[in-house]
Amino acid sequence: MLNFEDDYTPPARPQPIAPAMPPMPRLQPVMPVPAVGGVAPVQATVEAMAVAPDNKHRRVRAEDKRIINANTDVNQLVPFKYKWAWEKYIAACANHWMPQEVNMNRDIATWKDPNALTDDERLIVKRNLGFFVTADSLAANNIVLGTYRQITAPECRQYLLRQAFEEAIHTHAYQYIVESLGLDEGEIFNAYHEIPSIRAKDEFLLPFIDVLADPNFRTGTPEADQTFLKSLIAFACIMEGLFFYVGFVQILAMGRQNKMTGAAEQYQYILRDESMHCNFGIDMINQIKLEQPHLWTNAFKAELKAMFQRAVELEYAYAEDTMPRGVLGLNAPMFKEYLRFIANRRATQIGLDELFPGASNPFPWMAEMIDLKKEKNFFETRVTEYQTGGALAWD
Ligand SMILES: [Fe+2]
Ligand SMILES: [Fe+2]
Repeated sequence: MLNFEDDYTPPARPQPIAPAMPPMPRLQPVMPVPAVGGVAPVQATVEAMAVAPDNKHRRVRAEDKRIINANTDVNQLVPFKYKWAWEKYIAACANHWMPQEVNMNRDIATWKDPNALTDDERLIVKRNLGFFVTADSLAANNIVLGTYRQITAPECRQYLLRQAFEEAIHTHAYQYIVESLGLDEGEIFNAYHEIPSIRAKDEFLLPFIDVLADPNFRTGTPEADQTFLKSLIAFACIMEGLFFYVGFVQILAMGRQNKMTGAAEQYQYILRDESMHCNFGIDMINQIKLEQPHLWTNAFKAELKAMFQRAVELEYAYAEDTMPRGVLGLNAPMFKEYLRFIANRRATQIGLDELFPGASNPFPWMAEMIDLKKEKNFFETRVTEYQTGGALAWD
């Protein structure tokens, strides 16, 4: 039998946000329907159940929905309350892409040619992949083992399902680059254990996953809700919004110099996806703040500020480690300014003050990279304005 009960059970709270709901409806016809001519009209029974006064209160009302801690049925996608979540789900589906559709032949030739890349450029590629080949698995774990089951808004769950698949595509893309270039898989996939600057970033993130992946963790108290919110901020604003950006700038800068253009195109699609993941997370964070303003205390904000500052230090250490000397017109001090600029942006997007007032963006071209539509066929590979469905546009 179709089970309408979700595995999520809202916890007991001292002060519930929404009125307690009665048990979920069953699918069996439960209303007594008079037989006509000795035959019970089964279809009419089901329809009658849908409008029966006893069942009206079981229908979801948009105003009762909450991002977390709602008592509404998580299996009923509509009526929509969070249209931004549904619109991002539709946009993400329109942006669908697969790694093997990108031509890697030029990259393979470049990597094999001993004179095509400097040692510093090769180090950037390897360190980059060393971080990313496992990072998106962590991001996927965080969604499917942690975040998803706490979210009680079905339109947000719908986006998270799409996001989880995109994380799988990203891991696939990084693996595909490693395989195409014939890199040492053991070296690249173990970098998050063996390279200190990569390991430090992951050790910073893992506690935020572990706390949500604990089967006993449930939102519903101010402390638990702050813990959940902090994990959301760690992932949306710091991992997807900050820890990815040194790597993205490095590979996209190579692409702009006509080097490793296949990898650069893969990264460009990933950047577009990650930009939406980050914005979706920020939308959820801000909505939770609206629904539960008591969570946003001064002490909590101070904790978040310290978290951002530590993250900027870690990402800067990673920048120094991946590019000990200037390369591709980039150098580590430029990244210090860039990371401060991005940290300010993420902080203000969730309503915190700027952490580094006056920081500017040394890589304004990154904005064009995020919005693929503005730069058609940037790396001169096969696909332009990569969209599927009604928006598909091929050369
Ligand atoms: Fe990803
Ligand atoms: Fe992501």
